[in-house]
Amino acid sequence: MSASPAEKVPRVTPVLEGPLLVEGPAEIVLPDGSVILCERPVMALCTCRRTLRPPFCDTSHRPRLRATRATKRNTPRAGAPGAAEEPEPS
Ligand code: FES
Repeated sequence: MSASPAEKVPRVTPVLEGPLLVEGPAEIVLPDGSVILCERPVMALCTCRRTLRPPFCDTSHRPRLRATRATKRNTPRAGAPGAAEEPEPS
């Protein structure tokens, strides 16, 4: 099956540990069978099931990344006030 040159082939791009990026416009069939038309040029569909606005990604898949960054931000650098001192060699 191939599309004619005039037909646009829909493109779906999975994001690692994130949403599916779908080129629009597209019709989305919801679990209850209803259909919504999304006319955005690109839509992000949630694959992690954490979104508060299904079927779209609301970036709720990111907290683990945020927590990692916050941990790095709150860790004092060596020599900075509050940084753990290395023990003196005995
Ligand atoms: S993939 Fe982003 S909230 Fe689920």
